Amino acid sequence: MNLNTDFIPFARPSLGQEEEEAVIQVIRSGWLTTGGVTKSFEEEFAHFCGSTYALAVNSATAGLHLSLEALGIGPGDWVITTPYTFTSTATVVKHLGADPLFVDIEIDSFNISGERIKEALDRFAGTKRIRGILPVHIAGQPCRMDQFMSLAKERELFILEDAAHAFPSRTSWGFIGTLGTLGVYSFYATKTITTGEGGMVVTNDERLSHRISRMRLHGIDREVWNRYTSPTASWQYSVVEPGFKYNLTDLASAIGRAQLKKADHFLEKRKAIARIYTEHFQDRSYLTVPPDAEGHAWHLYLLRIVPPKLRITRDEYIEKLREQGIGTSVHFIPLHLHPYWKRTYGFKPEDFPESIRKYQEVISLPIYPSLTESQIERIIRAVLQIGDAHYKS
Ligand SMILES: Cc1ncc(COP(=O)(O)O)c(C=O)c1O
Repeated sequence: MNLNTDFIPFARPSLGQEEEEAVIQVIRSGWLTTGGVTKSFEEEFAHFCGSTYALAVNSATAGLHLSLEALGIGPGDWVITTPYTFTSTATVVKHLGADPLFVDIEIDSFNISGERIKEALDRFAGTKRIRGILPVHIAGQPCRMDQFMSLAKERELFILEDAAHAFPSRTSWGFIGTLGTLGVYSFYATKTITTGEGGMVVTNDERLSHRISRMRLHGIDREVWNRYTSPTASWQYSVVEPGFKYNLTDLASAIGRAQLKKADHFLEKRKAIARIYTEHFQDRSYLTVPPDAEGHAWHLYLLRIVPPKLRITRDEYIEKLREQGIGTSVHFIPLHLHPYWKRTYGFKPEDFPESIRKYQEVISLPIYPSLTESQIERIIRAVLQIGDAHYKS
């Protein structure tokens, strides 16, 4: 095998002539940072999702941070979230001096469990000031938002949807990301649409939108992007809050606008790949395929092995796939296994048994629009050949 020509990377963005031309236009316009192109991206994005406001930011992490800040989260507050996520979901809570309250995931999915959220709310009622729920739609599989929304209403909690993986996901409850108080999408290089780095916050709440808009750009009291170019704009501005530097550039937004137009086409491609994988893997007793859940955005295809049925571990499986030129990943190493979270809250691995179990079983396979039929066939063949060869019959 020649690694340079035959290696199938785990992820690859789908960028074409439309993105190239859009970027060139921005370069030629003389205005690179946040400006009219970003404003158009926000308007088009809000329309696409059916949300009143969309606020472009330079990462989903920034969007989550700004959202919690706008919700007034601070020291003494707790926010319920999952250990089965990327660290920034929980890190932003710490940035504000508050604490994440981790609860384990469901048995039959990678998403936070509604039952366990309810248990935590009952257990800590009166001892912890729990302000809201921060669910993550892992891999693009929608969480049980119907359960979460009624629970949040009953207990007067906010919901901040970490929809970093879940664009575009439509369910019978509505567009994922727009169902909570706020929702945040990621446009990181590997995500379902990308701007290299970037993110979007959506909300229907005018006050929150206003606060985020102000805080993402230095806490200045008005939109300042045109103050250098408009003949009527003045040099005057006032800093009214200690804001952040979280704005998205027009260069990135130009790519985002082109990607947004392709979002549903990309989704169809990923869905088709997921369907083919599942068709080939579902009858092997040593594999567990991800559910074809309603509204799944298929950002990730989280295949699981059944360890008692195999003579190799998940890590060895991954290594053998790599030897055959196939890039994979693991989503996620649960947060409570990482030194920072372990040290801060004194976690033991067994504190979140479902998260640990899934972590030891999961392999993320490549799933992106530019995968060719022959690459998909090669991936399937390799997965089955390795599994069949190490199956404990
Ligand atoms: C679940 C989840 N939330 C948030 C983020 C942060 O996204 P960003 O890289 O855009 O800050 C990621 C990044 O991969 C993620 O996987």
